[in-house]
Amino acid sequence: MRYDFDEVTDRHGSNSVKWDLCKDPEVIPMWVADMDFKAAPFILDAVRKRVEHGIFGYTHPSPSYYRATIDWFERRRGWKIQPEWITFISGIVPALSIAIEALTESDEKVIFQGPAYNCFYSCVRNNGRILLENRLVCDNAAEAPSFTIDFEDLERKCADPKATLFILCNPHNPSGRIWTREELTRIGEICLRHGVTVVSDEIHCELEMPGYTYTPFASICKEFEDNSVTFVSPSKSFNLAGLEIANMISNDPAKREKMDRVINRWEHCDVNQIGVVALEAAYTAEGEEWLKQLNAYIHENWHVLRDALTAVPEVKLCRLEGTYLTWLDCKALTARGITTREAQDSLVENEKVWINSGTMYGDGDYMRINLACPRSLMKEGAARIAAGLRRLLDR
Ligand SMILES: Cc1ncc(COP(=O)(O)O)c(C=O)c1O
Repeated sequence: MRYDFDEVTDRHGSNSVKWDLCKDPEVIPMWVADMDFKAAPFILDAVRKRVEHGIFGYTHPSPSYYRATIDWFERRRGWKIQPEWITFISGIVPALSIAIEALTESDEKVIFQGPAYNCFYSCVRNNGRILLENRLVCDNAAEAPSFTIDFEDLERKCADPKATLFILCNPHNPSGRIWTREELTRIGEICLRHGVTVVSDEIHCELEMPGYTYTPFASICKEFEDNSVTFVSPSKSFNLAGLEIANMISNDPAKREKMDRVINRWEHCDVNQIGVVALEAAYTAEGEEWLKQLNAYIHENWHVLRDALTAVPEVKLCRLEGTYLTWLDCKALTARGITTREAQDSLVENEKVWINSGTMYGDGDYMRINLACPRSLMKEGAARIAAGLRRLLDR
């Protein structure tokens, strides 16, 4: 079946963070990481059936929920998970906080790779841990800039006796990288060598551009599986973020027990029953086909943006391997004394398009653009972004 990603649905007035936080209805929002596509028809059918039942009491995922999750990762990635390894949770951000609290002591240090998803910074800070950033390195030599890992710096940071946790983002938001098996293996070996536990946030794992394949970190070898906790969710790839459902996966009873204690202490034990139903409907053969078409559509949207930006050769669009969030090198702006924060505000006010300054993700030389929208919006949004950047650079 062909799915229609061209359909435009008005999200104004739907309590949408992305669409309703801006008071000007003319603005096209291309910031918050959710998609402007309706959930897949087979997910809507399952949700509708549940809603028609009419009773929304407390919920407890049934064995079919675990089976759907296990089969999904085994079929698609060859990763064999056992049911008892799975702990359901309402989201990945709460899971990150739980892992930091459960798996580190208060004077310990947490490493991750900046620029990074903003909640990585806040989760470490809010839990009173010390942050060590292993900054990614921009490779400008490539046709489209991309990012590599500074493994020597990572080794040095992991060798700090107080560094005990590494938060991996696989695929990586906001750089758009999908880490290769070789890169993941080097990360895993460094962490093992220094006794650093890996928390792998794999929320973007289904969003792969043609030619790139995501590998679950824990699937690489038993040693990595033993030394890690993996967080997954259908929320990004199937656009279910508001249904608040995710899974924490660990083969290690000791880590699970520690995290369970925090979950109970923080009274974080419940999930949304509609989310449970949606996950089961998503993790199916129909879900696989829908994703295939979605990824091709997002890839084409990236090309629409790239074509529009030929009018602004001073800015450089980074290569997109995974996620629907693309990272734009705006050093040409900052070199002229225009911060990306000013550029963000100026584009909202003048061209009526909202993209994020990279300051939110720890690098003010970049801006982040959400590509997950119908083609007509993408074309209009891309034209507005290009016009706004051209205006700022020419002023
Ligand atoms: C890397 C990463 N982790 C977690 C989240 C949010 O997770 P959740 O909404 O499940 O708390 C996002 C959202 O953009 C993200 O990019």
